Amino acid sequence: MKVIRSIEELQLDGAVGLVPTMGALHAGHVSLFEAARTENDVVVASLFVNPAQFDEQADLARYPRDEGRDIEIAEHAGVDVLFAPPVREMYPDGFATWVVPDDIGAESAARPGHFRGVATVCVKLFNIVRPVRAYFGQKDAEQVVVIRRLVRDLNLDVEIRALPTVRDADGLALSSRNVRLSPEERTRALGLPRALAKAAASSDPVAAARAELNGLDPDYVELLDVDGATILAAAVRIGSTRLIDNVLVKGALP
Ligand code: PAF
Repeated sequence: MKVIRSIEELQLDGAVGLVPTMGALHAGHVSLFEAARTENDVVVASLFVNPAQFDEQADLARYPRDEGRDIEIAEHAGVDVLFAPPVREMYPDGFATWVVPDDIGAESAARPGHFRGVATVCVKLFNIVRPVRAYFGQKDAEQVVVIRRLVRDLNLDVEIRALPTVRDADGLALSSRNVRLSPEERTRALGLPRALAKAAASSDPVAAARAELNGLDPDYVELLDVDGATILAAAVRIGSTRLIDNVLVKGALP
């Protein structure tokens, strides 16, 4: 696996599958690498903690970083090229052009500017890497909706593949932020997937999830339309860590 830090060095041949990441890789990312491996000639993973998408500076400062470990995981999962640019390479002096998606749901409302950062960095990565397919996790459901919509609205030539959320054996959705949970917080965090799973079949899933979240303080609980399917999505804060998760309520996710 090659680790590449500059846009100029990135020379790729064949059908490229891109997995955009911010590092702190886990089995959820590995499932995206493996899908990209089977569907493309070349697999590129980006490793870039994108400052533009952090609405809280403290969250950016605390974001887990371990490049050595990420390199090992990506290499082992069959990634051909790890594109790990410094901030200056992506946002040089004078950078002044942004992709600003309209708000879609509660996640955009709760995190002003977040999807502007996500959309901008993804358009940049698509233009730099020129993938045939790009891979995202369904855990970040609103992110998937934003990316699919920007691909459609800006006529970008890339297929967006969204893959199922990978969970620990006890049901907690894998997230780079989970490493920040203390053992006691991690136990409390299990209340989120349990509440969503229980509420999904109810006649009022939002009210049922709120009731089931007893003790956890939700930023929001909402029903979100994802390309004709309905998901029940929520964000909770556990100590200083914010976790999101969702479950399918109706239809099938594309
Ligand atoms: O989901 C993420 O890790 C990030 O939002 C992404 C898509 C890599 C953009 O920085």
